[in-house]
Amino acid sequence: MKYMGHKGRIVPAITKQVERMAGDAHALCDAFCGSGVVAWNLAEQFEIPVLAGDLQSFAAARAAAVVTRSAPLNDLAFVERWISRAAALALEIEQDLRIPPAPGLEMRYKFIAPRKAVNRTRTYAARTLAKLLTRNGHRWPITLAYAGYYYSLEQALTLDSLRATLPRNRAERTVAISALIGAASRCSASPGHTAQPFGIGKKSLPHLVEAWNRSVPEYVREEVRAIAPRHARVEGEIMVGSWERLIDCLSPGDVVFCDPPYSDVQYSRFYHVLETLTRSEVISVSGSGRNPPFEQRPESDFSRKSKSMEELEKLLREAADRGLKLVITFPVSQQSNGLSAHMFASRAKRYFTNVDNDEVRSTFSSLGGNGSNGQRPAREETVEHIICCY
Ligand SMILES: C[S@@+](CC[C@H](N)C(=O)[O-])C[C@H]1O[C@@H](n2cnc3c(N)ncnc32)[C@H](O)[C@@H]1O
Repeated sequence: MKYMGHKGRIVPAITKQVERMAGDAHALCDAFCGSGVVAWNLAEQFEIPVLAGDLQSFAAARAAAVVTRSAPLNDLAFVERWISRAAALALEIEQDLRIPPAPGLEMRYKFIAPRKAVNRTRTYAARTLAKLLTRNGHRWPITLAYAGYYYSLEQALTLDSLRATLPRNRAERTVAISALIGAASRCSASPGHTAQPFGIGKKSLPHLVEAWNRSVPEYVREEVRAIAPRHARVEGEIMVGSWERLIDCLSPGDVVFCDPPYSDVQYSRFYHVLETLTRSEVISVSGSGRNPPFEQRPESDFSRKSKSMEELEKLLREAADRGLKLVITFPVSQQSNGLSAHMFASRAKRYFTNVDNDEVRSTFSSLGGNGSNGQRPAREETVEHIICCY
């Protein structure tokens, strides 16, 4: 899954440091698990339970798919039954309606017709469909908030009906919701994250049309096939909440991987679509990003420049007080939340006897930049430190 600051490319370097420190650990923890890529790998590599958590519930749900299962899921027959249940539910809504179709791929390089089709979709979703869905007895949060923007009407109805008809079996359900989150992320008509949908100007309309033509069930199948064989060596747990709650569950000698935010913009601004899908609660939206109200968005002091230093200090102090070991990743250069790897390392020396640094370089997608008109380039190189505190 595309995720801002995800550590997919440096997982081997992180694993090496965790291995070095995990001698007397009863548990490993990924306290800022995001896409879940590190938590999945730790659970697969170590004979030690992993506790993964994040402020955002979709991130914890994504991590759960591997962290909480200690055997592969071989029988995937549940997937077609699930997709059929969802299709039947969507059909209940669609059958008496004349839902405007998404502009087809053949319209991608035209302008007037697809733009008209998108506007028709938006009007239909807001006027006709919204009334019907609020009276229907199921929850349709994705359709009500995002149809006509991040998704076509058909995609939005499919996402909501898949969310409403998840399998009941525990292992199947965790794989299914994780696959659904992955599919929603990959089908979204937006540049990598969901801060703002593609517009309907000449440049962005072809991207919107292309995204609206992605088949949600196909992406769900692909995600399930990728996730189902993966599993933890020992069953772990997940938690939605701040890092303080996670480290409260640990004991001395346990190793905590920390990859806190770098930005002074809250992650919840970029990932509210996935959060709405996971929580499955109807939201009111505002602004061009169709964001939920502030009070419903998880907020982190790491993403407040005025508080990030205090939060860094608190993390180090509380981990040291509990006798925990930390593996922290952070960019070397100062980030927009005011923090840098050097600040972590120098503060950590106040609380831990040993603090060492490993430098890793990686290129990553800037999720939306293309290098033109002063934008960030599409790919940027970052130098990060892996800081071990013990
Ligand atoms: C840099 S990302 C982590 C990326 C992750 N390591 C990966 O590879 O995908 C930072 C994450 O920290 C989460 N977060 C922010 N503040 C938090 C807090 N106080 N407690 C737990 N998670 C937090 C954000 O929601 C975000 O998912």
